[in-house]
Amino acid sequence: MKFEAMNDRQRSRREPSDIAGRVERPSERERASQPLGDVSPAEFRQQLHELADWIADYRENIGKLRVAPNAKPGAILAALPKQPPEEGEAFEKILADIDRLIVPGMVHWGHPMFLGYFGWTATAPGILGEIISVPLNVNAMTWRTSPAATELETLVIDWLRQWLHLSEKFDGVVYDTASVGVMHALAVAREEAAPSVRKRGLVAAHAPVFRIYASEQAHSSAEKAAIALGLGEENVPRVPTDAEFRMDPAALRKMIAQDRHDNFRPLAVIATVGTTSTASVDPIPEISKICRENKMWLHIDGAYGGALAMLSEYEWIMAGWEEADSIVINPHKTLFVPLDFSVLYVRDLERLRRVFTLVPEYLRGDTVEAQKNYMDYGIQLGRRFRALKAWMVFRSFGRAGMAARIREPVRLANLFADWVRTESGFELAAPVNMGVVCFRFVGTDEGKIDMLNGEIVERINASGRAYLTQTKLNGRTVMRVGFGNVLTTEQHARNAWDLIRETASELNREK
Ligand SMILES: Cc1ncc(COP(=O)(O)O)c(C=O)c1O
Repeated sequence: MKFEAMNDRQRSRREPSDIAGRVERPSERERASQPLGDVSPAEFRQQLHELADWIADYRENIGKLRVAPNAKPGAILAALPKQPPEEGEAFEKILADIDRLIVPGMVHWGHPMFLGYFGWTATAPGILGEIISVPLNVNAMTWRTSPAATELETLVIDWLRQWLHLSEKFDGVVYDTASVGVMHALAVAREEAAPSVRKRGLVAAHAPVFRIYASEQAHSSAEKAAIALGLGEENVPRVPTDAEFRMDPAALRKMIAQDRHDNFRPLAVIATVGTTSTASVDPIPEISKICRENKMWLHIDGAYGGALAMLSEYEWIMAGWEEADSIVINPHKTLFVPLDFSVLYVRDLERLRRVFTLVPEYLRGDTVEAQKNYMDYGIQLGRRFRALKAWMVFRSFGRAGMAARIREPVRLANLFADWVRTESGFELAAPVNMGVVCFRFVGTDEGKIDMLNGEIVERINASGRAYLTQTKLNGRTVMRVGFGNVLTTEQHARNAWDLIRETASELNREK
């Protein structure tokens, strides 16, 4: 029944709380006792001052904290009230619980001894930028709803493009993550290969079975994208790599030919600059040639390593980029912008817009200006003002400051690798390409090596003194450290290495 069609009698009959699911109306007394509006300006100001000290203290003392908690799964949840609060609680009480329960339950990714995954930092300018974006709380879906957020996004994307020496053929869009970036890139590839999929769907458009190729070292976001796009994760065959974990172009060529023969339709290749385990760099010029010959989309996953193109000594990693259709770079990994901030560049960005533009009636009036409306470049309508934090980081450090700061983790990785090389009982498991070192303890019986390497990582992480990760290379378990946090100094690297050596001999004695 339409609401307007109800007569007064019906309406009054429906008002009492006897209707299932209807919330009982508050009494006059209850209503008077419920505060409305926000926290008072004076109180908020005081809380902000307190929070400023909290954040500064956290940053200053982060190195004294355990890197990771020793809590058992579920312990944090068990310490928190199961029922939501009926009455509002004081800021001081909430902050005290953050100190008492939340902070000790965190893995402190910003800790200088956190060497897991890829090292990164929420730098001070990034934190400040993130803080400022919260009270602004804009929705950067169209230019009209957020002129400054839109134009600043365009600006920081272009600044980064210039720093990466990419030509103006490339323009981009900011997403939360590289996984979302690759999904959008492959959606464009799919649409260009089967032009009516957007409108009619894969089946009605009689789309072929597409294949997307990525090396066996590439990130699993390739499969996630295939899942989301209805292409199927099995249609992401993994291409073998060489002894240095780089995609083998000859194997790629063979796989494409075989797939064509088997009636598959090769759609795209994902080449990685800085693979997840070893930071290896795929041979993009050869791969791009294969893509050109086969009319395939070339996506470069530079989520971690792409930003190193800012350094003159890494110019070589950019070979072939100009031939790419899309490139993803994660400033939240390598360029000191707090999570999340990922840029997808597309050669001729209009290709992306064509696939995703869709203006609902209620937004039509908001899209009349010629300016970019970033909602047209992806599935998200509501968009955060992410550009502000990147702008603050980029301005605060400048190109030279950024370059110096991304060069240091590479120096630390090479130093660490030298220590591994000269220590008996240890060996490097992969070449050091960027800020990542993969290595193994081998000073024990062959049969125990894999287990022991895993246990070293587990014991160190449980100690709270450092945090490493493990991975598998050529079927063997290896340890892995990732530098990239601006707070990690040579002394921290040294301390981590001493801890690894001590833990290895301790565990070896126990076995
Ligand atoms: C090479 C590479 N690509 C993509 C990703 C996914 O990044 P995101 O978390 O931004 O989706 C990762 C994550 O570590 C990665 O290492």
